[in-house]
Amino acid sequence: MHLGRTTLSKFLIQQLKGSPEQNDLAALLVDIAAAVKAISAMTAKGALAGVLGSMEQVNVQGETQQKLDVLSNEAFINTFSMGGLVAGLASEEMDAPMEIDPQDGSGRFLAVFDPLDGSSNIDVNVSVGSIFSVLRAPQGRTATIDDFLCPGRQQLAAGYAIYGPSTMFVITVGKGTHGFTLDREVGNFILTHPHMEVPADTSEFAINASNERFWEPPVQRYVNECKAGRNDVRARDFNMRWIASMVAEIHRILMRGGVFMYPRDTKDPGKPGRLRLMYEASPMSFIIEQAGGVGSTGRERLLDVQPSDIHQRVPVIIGSRNEVERIERYHREYDSGMDEKYTSPLFQERSLFAN
Ligand code: F6P
Repeated sequence: MHLGRTTLSKFLIQQLKGSPEQNDLAALLVDIAAAVKAISAMTAKGALAGVLGSMEQVNVQGETQQKLDVLSNEAFINTFSMGGLVAGLASEEMDAPMEIDPQDGSGRFLAVFDPLDGSSNIDVNVSVGSIFSVLRAPQGRTATIDDFLCPGRQQLAAGYAIYGPSTMFVITVGKGTHGFTLDREVGNFILTHPHMEVPADTSEFAINASNERFWEPPVQRYVNECKAGRNDVRARDFNMRWIASMVAEIHRILMRGGVFMYPRDTKDPGKPGRLRLMYEASPMSFIIEQAGGVGSTGRERLLDVQPSDIHQRVPVIIGSRNEVERIERYHREYDSGMDEKYTSPLFQERSLFAN
């Protein structure tokens, strides 16, 4: 198919024509793309720009900040501060939301973002990304934390950038999921992947298997069945991948299907999961649902989860429809005691890797 040269700006003008809010949303997405270009340039230079390595500080998550985490956060804050479209922002790298000084009247939007996701991969030169979510700001008053804490189904736009062999920008405004590739020489994002679709079936799953002993029985059941392959209930062999970069995993799933899991586990009883609801799970669920996939906690649609905290963590099971729905069924069967095999204490003794 001949795609021509549809730039991001041209595409957004077409998708978001109409109300003043839609026009502003288009302008905001162009601003976000500008921050992404700056981060892409920094990540591409790597050691040459002296941006690798860690800071001597931890973020609100208790994780050591990489230099690029901080620089990427600044790139987003600068963009939002100067654009005049955003009234407030919240980031993985900041304890509390930040108000943006109104320029000509207050901005229409709130932005929530993870400026550099998967940053443990930076120093080993593996793909990382940025994730963002756009919410509606209250008009006529300053935004409060409660204005940020709305379920993901209320997002106006969401997306991510992946800094891989090529830099891509993948977005949704609720009218499908569309991917753009950065033409570095010209500095434009070009529409290369319109209407991305996640195949309903897959034979590929992604999970950090070192946590197997902490998983709940429904997830152990699912992964054991995949591993057992063609001679067991699944009647086919499965492949496993783990990049430790949610953006890269979700991108792979958008390209060829799959299921990505960071499920509830008992590793740290204070945390119901590892990933953050507002700037990881929610925007990625919006993207995946708009491409025909499903995002779930195992027990609830991710886009319906009511946040109680900006940095809240949540179990994540996301990807190809038929696999995610199967895992949801395993949770229901386990919770209702229907699945005796997997509610039995004996099952807890089984190891994922025992033959
Ligand atoms: O921020 C979370 C994150 O880096 C994700 O991008 C990734 O999927 C996950 O953590 C990796 O976790 P782990 O280090 O346990 O493999």
